[in-house]
Amino acid sequence: MGTDLPEVSAPCVPGAWPVLGHAPALLRDPLRFFGSLADHGEIMRVRLGPVPVHALTHPALVHQVLVTEAHLYERGRLFDKLSGIVGHGLLTSSGPPHRAQRRIVQPLFQREQVARHLGAMRAAVTEVTSSWRPGQCVAVESAGNDIALLAVTNSLLPTGTGGQVAQAVKENLPVLMRALILQIALPEWWTRLPVPGNRRAGRAVANLRGAIAEALTRHRTAPSGGGDFLSSLTSARDTLGKPLDDEAVIDQALALLVAGVETTGSTLAWAFHELARHPHAERQVHDEADTAAAQGITDPKQLRRLSYTTWFLQETLRLHTLSFFMRRTLEPCELGGARLAAGAEVVLSPHALHHDPRWYTDPDTFDPDRWKPGTPAVLKGAYLPFGSGAHRCVGEHFAFTEILTALTMICSRWRLRHLPGTRVREIPRIEVHPSTFHMLLEER
Ligand code: HEM
Repeated sequence: MGTDLPEVSAPCVPGAWPVLGHAPALLRDPLRFFGSLADHGEIMRVRLGPVPVHALTHPALVHQVLVTEAHLYERGRLFDKLSGIVGHGLLTSSGPPHRAQRRIVQPLFQREQVARHLGAMRAAVTEVTSSWRPGQCVAVESAGNDIALLAVTNSLLPTGTGGQVAQAVKENLPVLMRALILQIALPEWWTRLPVPGNRRAGRAVANLRGAIAEALTRHRTAPSGGGDFLSSLTSARDTLGKPLDDEAVIDQALALLVAGVETTGSTLAWAFHELARHPHAERQVHDEADTAAAQGITDPKQLRRLSYTTWFLQETLRLHTLSFFMRRTLEPCELGGARLAAGAEVVLSPHALHHDPRWYTDPDTFDPDRWKPGTPAVLKGAYLPFGSGAHRCVGEHFAFTEILTALTMICSRWRLRHLPGTRVREIPRIEVHPSTFHMLLEER
């Protein structure tokens, strides 16, 4: 677009507070806030403190930003804040640095490479579930996170050396994610105040980076036989043929931990919640789990044959997905009839798109059959559990393999039942994770 065009503003969503703008509504109930935006149009302005942000509610505009005109956008405010917290790995970079990093990290996540981590995933499930007994109540949300954490750390680090990093992630990641949402919604000056929340976030970052740095030092003094992500990152070369320095390796490792643990852990917990609420789906998932477990899950190709469980997981990821992510214009551009200046922030909510009755019939009904082959495809940009375009989740196969492995191993032995009166609430951060809930273990 030419730079000489006057800026045409999208309409502003009503209800902004003086100074804070829409931040109070966003902080109070982000899912309701993003869900309500479709009533106001396909593109409209909200204010986070003094910062105007353009919110998109139409899949075509989302697709334009993430895919067809992605070259006009960089990551934006969410990722600026995230890089302040987790550094400059793949999760937070844009443009040429992002492309250079993606060239290094993407090969580690190709199907054949992910297959090498199947043993680490199985070990994670066994470690978390080996103490389970019939009649016991288990905290499903934390079991999901523990499995995801062990699966990523067992794959990231040489066998048997991930304990310290896993402990550091467990203690510090939730602190960081809570700090992040506040930093996005509140004005810039607030993030620099020495208030307890900001100090806690600073300590959490130092602890996490310190644990990864120690693992890296151990690896440099006694290199492992390879196969883990850390070995691959330390032997990778950039476009000039130079190895990554320690800070760059730590940034990438941290990006994988931040992006790959709570997202996958929450999805697994939501999957057990949905299984228990839908006996018809549960029967079919159990049948497939029995067949796969009888053969032993030693090859991801077996997981690809779990067709109903795959639809079940796609539907779980539709209902329980990221609350939002962002982009920022690199130059003036046109979007949905508005003309945005360079540097304009854009936000989109996969959660709101996935619950919108314009794109899904009975959007609040859990129905794995909507993913069966032969059913009408959803609009481009309306289903985004893993994003789309150049930043599409690099860990998608890893996450799918891990969740299918965990579901199959657990369902072949256990039925998880909700306790009477249990209410599982959605707790939105960036991903929407379930409130702490316990389920009763029945041996099948
Ligand atoms: C169910 C689990 C997961 C979900 C729902 C999920 C979701 C997403 C989404 C929506 C994005 C795109 C963000 C954007 O466009 O700005 C993304 C990017 C990313 N994810 Fe995942 N993710 C999951 C698991 C994982 C795992 C297991 C890993 C690694 C171990 C991972 C690593 C990453 C990285 C590094 C990026 C940045 C990619 C790039 O910009 O090139 N994710 N993820």
